[in-house]
Amino acid sequence: MRLKDKVAVITGGTRGLGRAIAERYLDEGATVVCAARNPYDIEHLIRQLPDRVLFHRTDVADPGSVEELMDAAVAAYGRIDVLVANAGVNHDGKVDRISPEAWRAMVDTNINGTFHTLQSAAKRMIAQGGGGRIITVSSSMSTRVAIGAAGYSATKAAIETLTKVAAIELGRKGIQVNSLAPGVLEDGMGRELSRNQKVWEAYHHRFSLGRAGTLDEAALGAVFLASEDSSYVNGHVLEVNGGLLWA
Ligand SMILES: NC(=O)c1ccc[n+]([C@@H]2O[C@H](COP(=O)([O-])OP(=O)(O)OC[C@H]3O[C@@H](n4cnc5c(N)ncnc54)[C@H](OP(=O)(O)O)[C@@H]3O)[C@@H](O)[C@H]2O)c1
Repeated sequence: MRLKDKVAVITGGTRGLGRAIAERYLDEGATVVCAARNPYDIEHLIRQLPDRVLFHRTDVADPGSVEELMDAAVAAYGRIDVLVANAGVNHDGKVDRISPEAWRAMVDTNINGTFHTLQSAAKRMIAQGGGGRIITVSSSMSTRVAIGAAGYSATKAAIETLTKVAAIELGRKGIQVNSLAPGVLEDGMGRELSRNQKVWEAYHHRFSLGRAGTLDEAALGAVFLASEDSSYVNGHVLEVNGGLLWA
């Protein structure tokens, strides 16, 4: 029960990695507020633990919507101890062809959305006076290049830099800010790569463990970064990628 009585807000907490983090956090004793634009598949969690799971409809690209999310979390549970800024989108496209709309969607959600949630949660954590944990979600692609990945890689690199600056600004206020950078996971955004035989053939030699990771293996990194096990970790990017070999 490493997160007993902690209140965690998880953006994109309705499916994929965010839901896996919510499930692990619940196992560790936390209360979770799962935020996304659509409810998806968390009804079973709400049914099992109605007092410890809340869904809040949120668009992280909209600062007003994010403020409402944080207000709802505080109204329901009295405080926010942990933020996992996990909501993200990916649109592949080569630089000479990617549409302005696809580019803007990645900037709006990945960079602006992470910033809005980080700022909004940090203000409340400071007001509470009791510190807190902020975990942004980057990707192994923040530091590696692949054709068609300009928007995704650039926005994930921005998230890591935002994380490191926020860590040195908020550290003295007792708020630790770190980033979780998964490699390719079996599900969520990684599903297409890991389950498409042709694509996997081209990429599998880059995985030193010879396989994609599970959502749960990445979620365990988010448990570590939210718990006392990481009490002296700040401004760190935790890569959970099975030893990715990539130029
Ligand atoms: N799966 C992987 O292999 C992998 C690897 C490296 C990094 N990541 C990162 O992990 C995070 C989660 O990815 P995933 O694989 O779980 O993807 P996913 O299955 O597509 O889930 C994305 C989540 O983000 C939410 N979301 C998207 N845009 C949003 C917005 N504007 N406002 C609020 N919520 C929004 C989605 O819900 P709605 O659409 O309903 O809003 C959904 O809950 C992302 O940041 C991704 O870059 C994933």
